Amino acid sequence: MADLDHRRGRNLDRLLMASLATCDWVRKHHNVIITGPTGVGKSFVACALAHKACMEGFTVRYHRLHRLLEDLQLAHGDGRFLKLLKQLTRFHLLVLDDWGLSRINALHQRDLLELIDDRYQKGSIVVTSQMPVSVWHEGMEDPTLADAILDRLIHNAHHIALKGESMRQRLPKWQNLPEKTSVTEARQP
Ligand SMILES: Nc1ncnc2c1ncn2[C@@H]1O[C@H](COP(=O)(O)OP(=O)(O)OP(=O)(O)O)[C@@H](O)[C@H]1O
Ligand SMILES: [Mg+2]
Repeated sequence: MADLDHRRGRNLDRLLMASLATCDWVRKHHNVIITGPTGVGKSFVACALAHKACMEGFTVRYHRLHRLLEDLQLAHGDGRFLKLLKQLTRFHLLVLDDWGLSRINALHQRDLLELIDDRYQKGSIVVTSQMPVSVWHEGMEDPTLADAILDRLIHNAHHIALKGESMRQRLPKWQNLPEKTSVTEARQP
């Protein structure tokens, strides 16, 4: 969290970040939603929060949402679904990066609801998205499932709405290589 650039115009609220840095939101099983245009620093902030949670002794898992939803679908086929779901529920904090990159179909919505419902008031979720929360509902195929998913996710969520130009443009090319971070993407066996 110490490396966070609080440059003006990016809407990274120091007070909110300081309060999130205490990890009380993880203790209370609250969620964090980070939105904003590409390159503005959503994944960076999500990983900073996850890293802080690790430092405080919480267990963390990072997934790109669409890869996780594909994994969960495959897991139905070979009988790993419940095991995988149980594994995901065990972590204090789950990071779901890149929500809404493509439309979420009803099959994926069912799995997402199971995942979010299992974690509801038992664990925290950080979601990042380029899309504002107001259009997440229409980015899902089944409106009833979308209601159930979003109600559980947004209830008790802190919202960081980042604004401004891509941070990638500020960095020399060699610094745009993938970051090394202590929170690595989990891959299913
Ligand atoms: N607050 C920050 N302080 C310092 N560096 C940052 C900060 N936010 C982002 N960066 C750097 O800017 C680059 C882009 O950030 P990041 O990948 O988090 O953007 P993003 O919003 O997740 O983009 P996308 O929507 O394309 O996934 C990265 O190299 C990251 O290290
Ligand atoms: Mg990102």
